[in-house]
Amino acid sequence: MNERLQDIQGFLREILVPRIERGDTVLDLTSGLGRDTLFLAQAVGPHGRVHAFDIQVAALAETRRLLEEEGVADRVVLHEADHARVREFVTEPVKAAMFNLGYLPGSDHSVTTQARSTVRALQGVLELLMEKGVLVLTVYRGHPGGEEEAGAVEKFLTALPRKIYSVLEGRYINQGNNTPYWILIQKKRGELG
Ligand SMILES: C[S@@+](CC[C@H](N)C(=O)[O-])C[C@H]1O[C@@H](n2cnc3c(N)ncnc32)[C@H](O)[C@@H]1O
Repeated sequence: MNERLQDIQGFLREILVPRIERGDTVLDLTSGLGRDTLFLAQAVGPHGRVHAFDIQVAALAETRRLLEEEGVADRVVLHEADHARVREFVTEPVKAAMFNLGYLPGSDHSVTTQARSTVRALQGVLELLMEKGVLVLTVYRGHPGGEEEAGAVEKFLTALPRKIYSVLEGRYINQGNNTPYWILIQKKRGELG
């Protein structure tokens, strides 16, 4: 068990570990410094596939560097593209997907994920998600546009049909209103019924 529950990404990775099998295809929609991409690449093993997206060249360069350093770059496809376009690049069913919204730490804070493209990306990923597949998000509200994005994500996800999706949310309740929180979605089954 992750000892630091203040680390949401670490917490979410532990939720994903038992749900990802070797050989799976998975997605990182916000590769950033590549830490989640690395986790996913290790989880799917040498015969799996990770598609990782970012709109910043510097983020993808850092992700590539980390993957090469760890010897897992061979199973990762890096896309310099808006994650709203995920369906253009990924056609196979996916077992798991990660979104870590907001801006890249240590870089230009004006480049952040945006409500409209995040919701489009979510739509695309849910279409690709396999039955029993899981999608996790970390949501921030502190930066400009963060509240609007969080609201749009919430609106989209609360309207998902309960027969097909389980949608859970978790947040710190002792740390003020602007702390990040997580959302976990599982596709219970692939079709309406
Ligand atoms: C919080 S950081 C991700 C951190 C990353 N998960 C890690 O482990 O280092 C958010 C990233 O989303 C990227 N981003 C912003 N808008 C995007 C979009 N429309 N499509 C893809 N990536 C985007 C930013 O460039 C930034 O690198």
